[in-house]
Amino acid sequence: MKRKACTEVGMKSISVDLPGDASEETILDHVMELNADPEVHGILVQLPLPKHVNEERILNAISIEKDVDGFHPLNIGKLCMKGREPLFVPCTPKGCIELLLRMEIPIKGKRAVVVGRSNIVGLPVAMLLNKYDATVSIVHSSTTDCKSLVKEADIVIAAAGQAEMVKGDWIKPGAAVIDVGTNYVKDPTKKSGQRLVGDVDFTEAKKVAGWITPVPGGVGPMTIAMLLKNTLEGAKRAFS
Ligand code: GUN
Repeated sequence: MKRKACTEVGMKSISVDLPGDASEETILDHVMELNADPEVHGILVQLPLPKHVNEERILNAISIEKDVDGFHPLNIGKLCMKGREPLFVPCTPKGCIELLLRMEIPIKGKRAVVVGRSNIVGLPVAMLLNKYDATVSIVHSSTTDCKSLVKEADIVIAAAGQAEMVKGDWIKPGAAVIDVGTNYVKDPTKKSGQRLVGDVDFTEAKKVAGWITPVPGGVGPMTIAMLLKNTLEGAKRAFS
């Protein structure tokens, strides 16, 4: 889908498809080659990587000027700090904020609860909401009584990777609910035998929420749009 989106907007994309047993050194060599290529303005290493590969070492090797995923520790560090701006903000968190801004949903001073604390979504989206002056809580697998915390939220970002864990009665009436989950559950009525659902029980939550994103078709397309946006911004910086 990322490749298709690049073609649609006229952006050149190079795919380096490596076998599952590719060594860490091989991956690093490819990253270094792309770092050095002046025609390349964005590098994304698709995660998760196989177990034998040190993810941290690979992500640290990506040039910060081409880190369109925003996962380099320097970019993440600046995302967390007051008065600092990262070169790139991770795509899914950036897409969540973009949705709120476009729908003119207030963020400043609002209670935001992020369900999940992954490096890819939960943690950076919490840091980004903090930059936009929300009062942010993160709930996770060790949190006792997630429901009562979520129930206080004006903005809920569900990114736990647990199919339909956020129930309708967890949602404060009128809240904005952004569902980042992509979970495949068994569904014998489908030809594929499975169905894609989010982390939120959409049918019930939509009766209570003021605003809610569906799965599929909500955050997913935004993530790709933000990847293209980050790449364009990187290219503009490189040419300026
Ligand atoms: N795997 C799942 N989501 C992402 C993402 O946003 N970036 C990368 N690189 N890998 C992912």
